[in-house]
Formats: sequence, structure tokens, C-alpha cells
Amino acid sequence: RQQTDLQGKTVMITAGPTREPLDPVRYISNHSSGKMGYAMAAAAADAGANVILVSGPVSVPPPAGVNVVNVETAQQMFDAVMQHVQATDIFIATAAVADYRAKVLENNKIKKTGDELTLTFVKNPDILKEVAALPNAPFAVGFAAESQNLAHYAKSKLENKKLAMVAANDITTSGLGFNSDHNALHVFWENGDKQLGPAPKTQLARELLSLIDEKYKNKPSN
Ligand code: PMT
Repeated sequence: RQQTDLQGKTVMITAGPTREPLDPVRYISNHSSGKMGYAMAAAAADAGANVILVSGPVSVPPPAGVNVVNVETAQQMFDAVMQHVQATDIFIATAAVADYRAKVLENNKIKKTGDELTLTFVKNPDILKEVAALPNAPFAVGFAAESQNLAHYAKSKLENKKLAMVAANDITTSGLGFNSDHNALHVFWENGDKQLGPAPKTQLARELLSLIDEKYKNKPSN
């Protein structure tokens, strides 16, 4: 049995993309496959945790012994997370949440009329930021998908969102990050950092979870 022991703890994980509808037949989304988040959920279940996996639409099968809540939009993901957050000890936000949604959801299919089409988008709630700002917030871990200045942006997410940890991936490296079976993470916390991988997402998830477990248990309140 691995060392990471989360027996009796509830770990909530968001995974996959969100889908933001434009009209009855179209949506905007991104290339997240859910693999990283599902690997985190499997690792947490193996460590004995009670796992709630709030997932956008993906095609990877859910790990055994995990409670899956399926959602489509960022707003639905936000609502599902808020419904379960009071019971959560550790929150890990792996999902690639759409930052914006269409201002107007058209009831009918948008017709091909002019040569250009302009749509207006409005901001979605930042699920991770709102969770971390709650009174009695769980130990909050964010992911950061960056294409430049990785350390700088990751550290600013750690501070701005008041996170316990942030795991940054460089999405410009081919074969890693979105939709691949492998990834490399640079993890930051208040007084330190650690590089994990490149490695299969299943292995990285176990390594990251063990780091989370260590920092979580070092917090005086836990
Ligand atoms: O799903 P895979 O194909 O396996 O790919 C994995 C991954 C690349 C998607 C994953 O490793 C990853 O980096 N996830 C975060 C992607 C992202 O969109 O990051 P961000 O920089 O936009 O967001 C920062 C953090 O805030 C993330 O923890 C995100 O889940 C969270 N967030 C962002 C926006 C929002 N509205 N709500 C959020 O909770």
C-alpha cells in the first residue's frame, strides 16, 4: 500500500472541459480530455479518500469507487462544487473551465447571414477562487495551463486565488498537457516548489497527491 493516506478525508476534484452553448446545436469548449483529473481521482481513491469527481463531458471511464457528478457548463460545475464543498477537506481543480459564456443563448440555430459573425461573451464564475475564499475553505489546489512565463503566472495564481498549492503545466511542449497521456508539472506553494515528471499522468497524479497530503498534514489546523 502506498504511503499517502487520506482515509476518512473527502477530496473533491474537477476534471475535463466545460461546454458553453451558443444555440441549440453549437457550443464552445477546449481540448481537455479529463485524463489528468481522472488520474487524480483514481490516486485519491487508492489513498483511501472519499472522492467526489465533478466532471465536464469526457470519454475516459470513471475510476472505481469514485462518486461522479456529471456537468456541462461552468455554471453547472460551480453549482455542483458548491453543493459538496462543506464536506470537502481537499479541493483539486484540474478542470479547464471556460472563462466566458455567450451572453445570449439563442433559442434557435444561428443562421448563416453576413460574412462576419460577432458574439458577445460574459465572464463565468471562477470556481477555484470562490472555493478558496470561503470561510473554512478546504485545502485548495489549482492547476495552471500556461504557454509562457510559467513560474510567474503560476505564482500569481497562487497569491491571487489564495491557494495552498498550484500545479503548473507548460502546454506548449508537444506530447504533454492537454489530451495526452503524459504531463510535466511545476508545483508551487508558499515557501517552495518542486518539479514532477515528465511522466505518465497516472504516475504524476500519485506523486502530486503525495505532495498535497504532506503539505495538507503540515497545516496546523488539520
Ligand atoms: O484533461 P487533460 O487532457 O488531461 O489535460 C489536463 C489539463 C492540461 C487540462 C490540466 O493539467 C490543467 O492544466 N488544468 C487547468 C487548465 C486551465 O484552464 O487552467 P487556468 O489557468 O485557466 O485556470 C487556473 C485554475 O483555476 C485551474 O485550477 C482551473 O480549474 C481553475 N478555474 C479556472 C477558471 C474558472 N472559471 N474556474 C476555475 O475553477
